[in-house]
Amino acid sequence: MSMTYSCGILGLGSSLPEKVLTNYDLEKIVDTSDEWISKRTGISQRRVLDEDKPAYQLGVDAAKKALDDAGIEAEELDLIIVTTETPDYLTPSMSCIIQSKIGAQKAAAFDLNAACSGFIYGMTIANQFIKSGYYKHVLVVGCEGLSKIVDWKDRNTCVLFGDGAGAAVLGPVEEGYGIITTHIGADGVLGKNITMPCCYIGPEDIQVRSGDNKKVLWMDGSEVFKFAVRIMEQATNKVLEDSGLSMEDIKLIVPHQANIRIIEGAAKRLKVSEDKIFTNLHKYGNISSASIPLGLNEAYREKLISKGDNLVLVGFGGGLTWGSVLVRWSK
Ligand code: UT7
Repeated sequence: MSMTYSCGILGLGSSLPEKVLTNYDLEKIVDTSDEWISKRTGISQRRVLDEDKPAYQLGVDAAKKALDDAGIEAEELDLIIVTTETPDYLTPSMSCIIQSKIGAQKAAAFDLNAACSGFIYGMTIANQFIKSGYYKHVLVVGCEGLSKIVDWKDRNTCVLFGDGAGAAVLGPVEEGYGIITTHIGADGVLGKNITMPCCYIGPEDIQVRSGDNKKVLWMDGSEVFKFAVRIMEQATNKVLEDSGLSMEDIKLIVPHQANIRIIEGAAKRLKVSEDKIFTNLHKYGNISSASIPLGLNEAYREKLISKGDNLVLVGFGGGLTWGSVLVRWSK
């Protein structure tokens, strides 16, 4: 006899570096202004790691808090998925480092790179393992140190990003609660719009336009902007349709925090009032795959969600990729 389980979020945690970099600080680094950044993005400040600090420490801290919130010991974890586009090392993976630092001896561990959509991809995989009964507890950590890869001479990108981590412990929950449906997608044809060289730097395959082929992040902001507004709407509608719910049934949307104008544009298309949409990007900027778990954790700690509430988590990013999850809160 085969059994299936409902998979939900048992615990959440997040972690941020202490150092705050304001728009005014950035005025001293590149030709920009607080007015431009605030108006065009909604960001006022971001957190950044000290140069000599690895990003995985944020992931370790977030993971410990999520385990604590779930009331689960690290030894009880079966799998750790770390979603990141800024691993401190290609090997060992960030997930293996975090596994050792939290003492999760029993857990398998791998990194997943779907850029800013990573956490949604991670939740989607965790859901499959738990639903099938193959694993009981999966830790998904979005962990990013974007300050280490942005080009601090490029005002088009360096004002947008920040560092941080958010973690969730997923496991079996009461039937009818937890993850109702998930949706992930990719369009590699559009990948050239956000690039970050790694092992290979050269003219082949994709047009890597990072300044002078340096190992820095490069982005065609307006192309990504147009894609983002469209895909946020589509991905949100997809999980609503698949779960047979309508926007009225949704308590809160936690979107990827890239630009307030992207969120407003998507909200308008979805005909949803902005008070249903969680935002914190003014404080942290875009933290790639950490932004959704960090936002969800803040919404949870601020008691904006309670048991039975339907939530939509939705994101997009490099790849280009996108994803959405509909969760019925089970805590
Ligand atoms: O997580 C997924 C990855 N990324 C994103 O989601 C980002 C998506 N894109 C965006 O958020 C927006 O496109 C940006 C915030 C990147 C740019 O905003 P925009 O309204 O699309 O501006 P733009 O790129 O059209 O640039 C407008 C002007 C340009 O000057 P000119 O050519 O019109 O003279 C830029 O050089 O603004 C200039 N500019 C700046 N000025 C002051 C670009 N960055 C800055 C800056 N400070 N930091």
